Amino acid sequence: MDDSTDLREKYLTAIADAGDEAALEGVRLAALGKKGEVSQRMRGLGAMTPEERQTAGPALNALKDEIAAALAEARARLADAALGSRVAGQWSDITLDPRPLPQGTIHPVSQAMEEISAIFADLGFSVAEGPQVESDWYNFDALNIPPEHPARQTMDTFYMARAEGDNRPPHVLRTHTSPVQIRHMQDSGVPCRVIAPGRVYRADYDQTHTPMFHQVEGLAIDRDISMANLKWVLEEFCRAFFEVDGVELKFRASHFPFTEPSAEVDIRCSWAGGQLKIGEGDDWLEILGSGMVHPKVLAAAGVDPSIWQGFAFGMGIDRLAMLKYGIPDLRAFFESDLRWLRHYGFSALDVPTLQAGLSR
Ligand code: PHE
Repeated sequence: MDDSTDLREKYLTAIADAGDEAALEGVRLAALGKKGEVSQRMRGLGAMTPEERQTAGPALNALKDEIAAALAEARARLADAALGSRVAGQWSDITLDPRPLPQGTIHPVSQAMEEISAIFADLGFSVAEGPQVESDWYNFDALNIPPEHPARQTMDTFYMARAEGDNRPPHVLRTHTSPVQIRHMQDSGVPCRVIAPGRVYRADYDQTHTPMFHQVEGLAIDRDISMANLKWVLEEFCRAFFEVDGVELKFRASHFPFTEPSAEVDIRCSWAGGQLKIGEGDDWLEILGSGMVHPKVLAAAGVDPSIWQGFAFGMGIDRLAMLKYGIPDLRAFFESDLRWLRHYGFSALDVPTLQAGLSR
């Protein structure tokens, strides 16, 4: 019995003195482990007489329980203390700025499209769309470009492959947004005032040309729309879009099969020092084609040209973005270089509106 009292003293003291979990585990093994002192005593019970066992058995069991309970309590105490000291040593300064979240930016082409849409919405134009893979009827024939017309060659058209033995006329990657004129008049009729922004494709590649680029088509049809309306709309648009005093446009007589008369519009700019600036300098950059919609085009879209007339234009969105944001090389637009995008991109939260300012 004294023995067991000694053991009790020994282990309860050791448990109280254990300074960390490892020390505590050492005590547990020494007392209750397979070869521990208490476990060995319990194995010794078998060699006792029944009378001895009757008193020694319960005493040993009680001792084992008491030590186990003391161990559990000490373990909880140590864990609390460890947590307490961690909490005391580590703390958050909630007045610090949060870590910045990586934020995407709006591509300058998307930004330009948004700005263009906002300006034309203000002028009463809605937005129309059409497919990028287009039949050659919509891309050419309906726009008064017959099969033998040289424009089919000069546009550097990408033709879609046809399966062998499929002799239908080919589809093309649309070379301009003008087929949307036809589709829109067929679907929604006239009078109409729409713009149609989107991707177009031509086999061409240099500092100001890429095989895929963006145009915005404009179409306004009514009974009495004239070339004067066209000129006013384009000038008004450029003033609003460029947000620069003294934007200067040059209307040049030109030719398109789908307009008569036709005009191309150039904008005054300078390339001095590799920097592209508008409204100054002696260079002119062509930004759009335009004219009065040809009667044959109206007829192809099911519109009576003896009643209806109007203007159309097609602008290069990428060119407009280059000019406005001073980006010298068009090819960089489509290289997906993150450094370029971070530099020229726009905040997703600044939605362009005429009231708040188009680009900030
Ligand atoms: N579709 C012409 C082009 O891609 C532009 C244009 C559109 C010209 C509408 C006149 C009228 O160059």
